[in-house]
Amino acid sequence: MNFLDTANAYGPRTVNQLIAAALHPYTAGLIIGNKVGADRGPDRSWLSGASPGQLRRARAMTPIAAVQNRYNLLDRSGVEVLADCEAHGIAFVPYWPLAFGQLAEHEEPQAPACRLGATDAQVALAWLLRRSPVVVAIPGTSSVEHLRSNVAAGALAPRLTDDEVTALTALTDESAAALDRPAQSTLDALNDLAVRTASA
Ligand SMILES: NC(=O)c1ccc[n+]([C@@H]2O[C@H](COP(=O)([O-])OP(=O)(O)OC[C@H]3O[C@@H](n4cnc5c(N)ncnc54)[C@H](OP(=O)(O)O)[C@@H]3O)[C@@H](O)[C@H]2O)c1
Repeated sequence: MNFLDTANAYGPRTVNQLIAAALHPYTAGLIIGNKVGADRGPDRSWLSGASPGQLRRARAMTPIAAVQNRYNLLDRSGVEVLADCEAHGIAFVPYWPLAFGQLAEHEEPQAPACRLGATDAQVALAWLLRRSPVVVAIPGTSSVEHLRSNVAAGALAPRLTDDEVTALTALTDESAAALDRPAQSTLDALNDLAVRTASA
């Protein structure tokens, strides 16, 4: 594991301070991706990600190392740029890789999880890593046990069969996916987040 995904908005700033306190001076090869410029739409919507057109415009201005779009077993809405990322060697960083934790107990990945003696969360991450060679997984956790389990999903990825990867990919239709059409799982998670933020 050599990549940390963070943002000025997390805390705000607290997470970056914690990372520095824990890891500075940084070891060679550690990459810290720090998102900036987070903003909400005029209708208070939470929009985040890049469409193919935005990626094209950005690439015309500067080299792009990575795109972070919403993408997981339940919500494929960020997939539109995946082919472009593959074509141009750009990392595709799916955010909410565990659908905000919903995939930890989701029933769909059960079969491969049973065969491999793995958890549903591990299968969801292993599938992402098999989905494309440019995928970089960023599962979030507050638990050391889950962290170990999530890191172990990397070794699980090559053990998924091609048929299992195809079946997992086919669980959700990607053909009409678009960033502005979030899946119900994402809307549920955002509602949950809004409730928790309001009561904090
Ligand atoms: N660009 C954007 O707009 C955007 C938006 C959202 C998120 N993100 C990024 O996406 C990354 C992940 O986001 P996230 O943490 O919100 O969502 P996530 O990785 O999809 O899900 C995290 C949730 O899954 C649970 N979990 C993690 N590992 C587990 C395991 N092995 N077994 C069971 N449950 C497990 C966690 O609970 P525990 O704490 O109990 O493990 C937590 O509730 C972060 O780097 C975040 O910055 C980006």
